[in-house]
Amino acid sequence: MGLLKPGINEVIATTEFNAAPMGIIFKDGVARMVVFSGSHTAKNIEKNGWLVANFVYDPILYVTTAFEDIPNNAFLEETVNGRKMFRLKDTDAWAAFTTTIEKKTTEALMVTLTLEKEIIEEVSLHPVNRGFNSIIDTTVHATRYRVNHDPELKKQIDYHAGIIKKCGGKRDLEALELLLRYIS
Ligand SMILES: Cc1cc2nc3c(=O)[nH]c(=O)nc-3n(C[C@H](O)[C@H](O)[C@H](O)COP(=O)(O)O)c2cc1C
Repeated sequence: MGLLKPGINEVIATTEFNAAPMGIIFKDGVARMVVFSGSHTAKNIEKNGWLVANFVYDPILYVTTAFEDIPNNAFLEETVNGRKMFRLKDTDAWAAFTTTIEKKTTEALMVTLTLEKEIIEEVSLHPVNRGFNSIIDTTVHATRYRVNHDPELKKQIDYHAGIIKKCGGKRDLEALELLLRYIS
């Protein structure tokens, strides 16, 4: 079985020297993404036709890459089937894909992914932690809240902040602090 699991895989996608959390929808053996227009990820997919999914469990990296750029030395070059791609240097595993744009609207690209190569770099155990899971959830809400300041989203963010404070570890708490600064 490959690295993607059925459902939505919340990975950190790298495209050139860009990293951003993205959901890869894996259903019936097909991997797809909906990438909103205007993002660097959408632009790079259109330009280059590839993407690397990085399997990472660092809450701070999810928050950071959702809101800003990370330095070029966080990336590592890989040649995949003769094509130069970039993955994160510190990732437990990565999967490199070529991308096909099935549909383009003013709002988003609908993309299918074709697996070219996947590697597990490090095997480590990540016990289920509600604090980490809530970081992922609240970061999704926060990327939207920053744009529209919807009070309903703020309620969700506050709810998840409560879980992170109760269940999270040190890095989850640091990630929460960082996230609250991005949206303040
Ligand atoms: C867990 C998570 C999943 C996300 N999934 C998607 C997605 O599937 N498609 C998308 O366009 N944005 C998604 N986002 C939002 C992007 O990460 C965010 O808009 C980011 O700023 C885009 O960065 P970029 O301009 O460097 O590509 C997700 C955010 C998080 C935290």
